[in-house]
Amino acid sequence: MKILFINGSPRGEKGSSSFPILKDLAGVITEVHENFEQNFLTLPRSMKGDPAPVLKQMEEADIWVFAMPLYVDTLPSHVLRWLMEYQKSRTPESLSRRVYAVVNSGFPEPEQNREALKVLELFCRQNGLEWRIGIGMGMGEPYKQMVQVPLKSFFKSDILRAYEAVRDDLNRESLPEKPLCFVRMRWPVWLYRIQGNMGWPMRVKQNGMKKSEIYARPYVL
Ligand SMILES: Cc1cc2nc3c(=O)[nH]c(=O)nc-3n(C[C@H](O)[C@H](O)[C@H](O)COP(=O)(O)O)c2cc1C
Repeated sequence: MKILFINGSPRGEKGSSSFPILKDLAGVITEVHENFEQNFLTLPRSMKGDPAPVLKQMEEADIWVFAMPLYVDTLPSHVLRWLMEYQKSRTPESLSRRVYAVVNSGFPEPEQNREALKVLELFCRQNGLEWRIGIGMGMGEPYKQMVQVPLKSFFKSDILRAYEAVRDDLNRESLPEKPLCFVRMRWPVWLYRIQGNMGWPMRVKQNGMKKSEIYARPYVL
């Protein structure tokens, strides 16, 4: 079996939470499915190049596992464009395959990601793909800074359980027990909000701007 882990973050591999999410998920899958071939693909942000190599990699995989951020309550636009590109390229001979996805959001409530997961499910249904499990993850932004925190720790225990659900579903013939999981780090929401609010002024300073510029409304006439 060939699994393709598809990173849908426009931040790429180094700056995103989606990439470490995929790496962690791949590690959990390897514990049980040692013989599965694992490949990684970061969807290019630009559609200007030749789409054929990306589409070929997607077409060759038996299973897709997406991870991407939530952008304005839906999928990042370049992910939508790639899905449309794939849709155009499908032929009657195209394979059906299982699809799994993690959508992570900045807001702490994981349910924020429900509609984006629904978009992916509908895409699968329209294109003869088998939608299996969607994970909505709240508090996604600090995931990349917390890669050193083990998945087996208290903080990430709910996330680990969701990854294990994907792992255990890969070989299952029957329908998934829980097609949607909503998880986040076990961290107090009030503290997350304080940390988030502290982060904005720090970023403003790093980018040589004034705090008052956070409130700029350039599109208001
Ligand atoms: C353009 C843009 C739109 C966003 N929209 C939302 C949103 O609607 N809801 C939300 O909770 N977070 C939103 N976020 C925050 C991202 O989902 C969050 O930072 C996520 O962890 C980024 O994941 P990544 O590092 O894998 O790209 C948005 C971020 C950007 C840049």
